[in-house]
Amino acid sequence: MGKAEFPVLQVSALRWENGSLVLLDQTRLPEEEVYLVCGEHRQVAAAIRRLAVRGAPAIGVAAAFGVVLGAQEILARGGDLQTELPAVFQELRSTRPTAVNLFWALDRMARVWQAQGRKEPAATVSALEAEASRLFREDAESNRRLGEFGAALLANGMNILTICNAGALATVAYGTALAVVRAAVARGKKIAVTACETRPLLQGARLTTWELLRERIPVTLITDSMAGFVMQRGLVQAVITGADRVAANGDVVNKIGTYTLAVLARQHGLPFYVAAPFSTVDLAIPEGSRIPIEERAEDEVICWQGRRLAPTGVKALNPAFDFTPARLVTALITDRGIVRNGEWEKLQQLA
Ligand code: MRU
Repeated sequence: MGKAEFPVLQVSALRWENGSLVLLDQTRLPEEEVYLVCGEHRQVAAAIRRLAVRGAPAIGVAAAFGVVLGAQEILARGGDLQTELPAVFQELRSTRPTAVNLFWALDRMARVWQAQGRKEPAATVSALEAEASRLFREDAESNRRLGEFGAALLANGMNILTICNAGALATVAYGTALAVVRAAVARGKKIAVTACETRPLLQGARLTTWELLRERIPVTLITDSMAGFVMQRGLVQAVITGADRVAANGDVVNKIGTYTLAVLARQHGLPFYVAAPFSTVDLAIPEGSRIPIEERAEDEVICWQGRRLAPTGVKALNPAFDFTPARLVTALITDRGIVRNGEWEKLQQLA
């Protein structure tokens, strides 16, 4: 397959600069473009917890640089990496439970650390920095490849329904679901996006629209409850979502509301695609119902920007993700190729 020429990206969620991790604070978008300069691993952990940096691949890469910062801190105070670095790993591992990219990236960092043995501490810190930078580059490259595979599935003139933000803001570059859109556009196809607002934290309304507007890719915002209506009216021709974790049998865990879209897509005969790099595939988990689902604070549902939306004393549920059975997934678009429904054992081969 020929390479699509991606336009220069207008959006970057994270970068490593002069020994600090610079994060675009996504909680402030779209009103303000504010960057957080994290010089300590605790700042990175806090940023992941409060979704200043979010999206499975971006969380993994941010955490990897969090380890580098933790190691730098230990070195600066003359501490011992051997005894103190495990607490840094632990703090970063405990930030969010669902996206497997976090654990995958931290495991890679841990392997590099272990391979260093009792080498000079400064050499260990350099090796950790090199690995985090590798993870950064690999993520951009994986998403570019995944986009190129996925673009072949989109026909000229399609309108794609998506949820949450599975774009450049959720990754090092290009995104996952939106990398597919970007690659199709780069090949000259006319593609438009319909973005579900994604209650309660509005990643679709705040982030997906923001990054697509910057790249002049046509986007229309809908509330989550309009998804059935837009399908019934023929306003969208396919659904593409990202994933936080894909189980060995092809089950997918992604942003709350994804399962609803998959059921609706089946009802309306539309393809339901999931775009995810292999860093999101967890072959150690046989099926999706075993993937831990993050429960976030009730206040995220009850309030918006400090303003109460519901009466005092009401209870609220706030699962951040849901689980979509593989039978509803038309195909998984990965950086190693497309895995179609019923070919899930191919995940093992590609891994
Ligand atoms: O809670 P978030 O904003 O981190 O949730 C993000 C998602 O659900 C994305 O769809 C997923 O991480 C894939 S991002 C490329």
